[in-house]
Amino acid sequence: MVDWTHLNGLYAATGSRQMLAMFEDDPDRAERFSAQVGDLRLDYSKTRVDAAVMEALIDLCDQADLAGHRAAMFGGDRINETEDRAVLHTALRNLDGGPVISGGIDVMPGILATLDQMRAFSDAVRSGEKAGTGGAFTDIVNIGIGGSDLGPAMAALALAPYQDGPRCHFVSNVDGAHIADTLRGLDPKTTLVIVASKTFTTIETMTNARTARAWMQEGGGDPAMQFAALSTARDKTAAFGIDDAHVFGFEDWVGGRYSVWGPIGLSLMLAIGPKGFDAFLRGGQAMDTHFRAADWHENLPVLLALIGIWHHQICGYPTRAVLPYDQRLARLPAYLQQLEMESNGKSVAMDGSALTVPSGPIVWGEPGTNGQHAFYQLIHQGTGVVPCEFMVAAQGHEPDLAHQHRLLVANCLAQSEALMRGRSIDEARARMADRGLDAAELERQARHRVFPGNRPSTTLAYPLLTPFVFGQIVALYEHRVFVEGVILGINSYDQWGVELGKELATSLGPVVDGTQSTSGKDGSTAALVEFVHRHGGA
Ligand code: F6P
Repeated sequence: MVDWTHLNGLYAATGSRQMLAMFEDDPDRAERFSAQVGDLRLDYSKTRVDAAVMEALIDLCDQADLAGHRAAMFGGDRINETEDRAVLHTALRNLDGGPVISGGIDVMPGILATLDQMRAFSDAVRSGEKAGTGGAFTDIVNIGIGGSDLGPAMAALALAPYQDGPRCHFVSNVDGAHIADTLRGLDPKTTLVIVASKTFTTIETMTNARTARAWMQEGGGDPAMQFAALSTARDKTAAFGIDDAHVFGFEDWVGGRYSVWGPIGLSLMLAIGPKGFDAFLRGGQAMDTHFRAADWHENLPVLLALIGIWHHQICGYPTRAVLPYDQRLARLPAYLQQLEMESNGKSVAMDGSALTVPSGPIVWGEPGTNGQHAFYQLIHQGTGVVPCEFMVAAQGHEPDLAHQHRLLVANCLAQSEALMRGRSIDEARARMADRGLDAAELERQARHRVFPGNRPSTTLAYPLLTPFVFGQIVALYEHRVFVEGVILGINSYDQWGVELGKELATSLGPVVDGTQSTSGKDGSTAALVEFVHRHGGA
């Protein structure tokens, strides 16, 4: 267990310390509080950390034996103790690394064989050699939820400029509207359906898979040719009727939210091709190499984690906004919500004791500049502080629209500057006086135009969102979550908190469809069920 006393004391001593003054006092602040890996630059200078705070944060890594935990993870130890599993998603991208031994077995030959199987399948689909009853596949529908959806959905959008294969669609919600809207307009004879489910039991996915199968059969397609499965459960994929040659397996040491690097990424590979997918893996691998080797002071995942801990566990800011100035990273906040909140949203430490500090923060966000016209008002002038994590590429993929990209970059940089700089009441008065407002009106209005400033943000900048860079970014966040989990002393790899709702939904099924009464249910639930029944819902 780590000792938070020193950091809490440093926080108390920061008082009203102003970031702007910190920049004035230290002309090298931007460099000293930035780190770079390859082309990826993390600037955390627009926060209120100083050298003493950073040293105290870095000391947490040693107190928590981060190096030991990191070695255990990469070494295939069963660090997911509550599920008795190793955590080896990093092996999926260990393209030219050595053997990875878990439970006395080298897992790499199996991983590389599956990757070859994915490449061959992907080449056959993309070339039209493997086709539906109506000819070459035009569309792919990935049916999955949580980690079996968010990773590939986010990645397919992020890497859309590299797409030269069939169009990808993603269906996750058990709400029939999702699959109905997705299938409408698709040709059942040229659509490939991928059922992505680690367990192959998830109710949403299996329900949607059956709906898709019926749609295909009714429309003249052939599920035997046009269905594939991504799962650890071959017995269940076979029972569903999916040809074993179309099943891409993985092991239980790949957590759902960490699974985009393996078979769960098949839709991405089909969209951008095996070479693009390899570049994505290599980006992830490059981040692994950095994370394993770099000193804590230069280590990007460690720094990002420590800044997160400073803001949430020490400063007490309850949420964290992820604000990519990159429309194609629109699904990144949702992906990070699962990655961070399912991993570190726990109140019990690995040893069963209660956490003595808050668990991981609420993560939310939207791409800029859209958010600026929606919720940034609160970020700038609300009573609470929201640490912001900006992301931006130096270049866009649309050379003809470079002027738009420059505007995007300017907006991103302007927001972090505005959050830091703020606007004092005197500045607000002066601006209004310039506009000729009389003294009484000026006094009435001035306070509404004050920005407190001194609000923290980080900026992750990269040259261009290529598959390699994108792989680095995703792995960066994965390791950040790992570091935070180690310092909090929790197991970041289980998700027992999703179970109760699933169990109750199963027991409520017959109540909602009217085959069981509401007796035994609480008054609120019973009344809501009755409302649904009165309005034709069963
Ligand atoms: O309900 C949570 C969860 O288990 C996630 O952790 C997982 O990513 C998702 O459901 C989907 O699970 P599966 O891939 O087994 O369908």
